[in-house]
Amino acid sequence: MQNGVFKIRLMPNDIIFTCKPGETILDAALRNKISLPHGCTKGGCGICKIKVVGKVDFGRVSKNRLTDEEKEKGFCLSCRAVPLEDVEISLIDGSKLDESFDYKRYFSLIFGSKTVL
Ligand code: FES
Repeated sequence: MQNGVFKIRLMPNDIIFTCKPGETILDAALRNKISLPHGCTKGGCGICKIKVVGKVDFGRVSKNRLTDEEKEKGFCLSCRAVPLEDVEISLIDGSKLDESFDYKRYFSLIFGSKTVL
């Protein structure tokens, strides 16, 4: 951390980008031109669910979109989560986010189950 700016490492891409103080992971990613999967951007759809290693403020989220058990297992909603330290993130299936990333398949993976557990 430097001046309240945290580093976010996207794995397995191994891309590091910065997150301004109070900025959500999704906003930081989009500002850095990284297209993390997302939908509503308001904590309502669950599409932006990711795995995170490190402390985050989960923000205001519906338990229908992110359960307490998921939080304990290291999931968060990127549109709500604000890093409290340098963190490492990955998509819930561990896939690489590149030009060939299949958003449709990924969205069906998320909507195919109530939770990712
Ligand atoms: S984008 Fe809809 S919950 Fe985050």
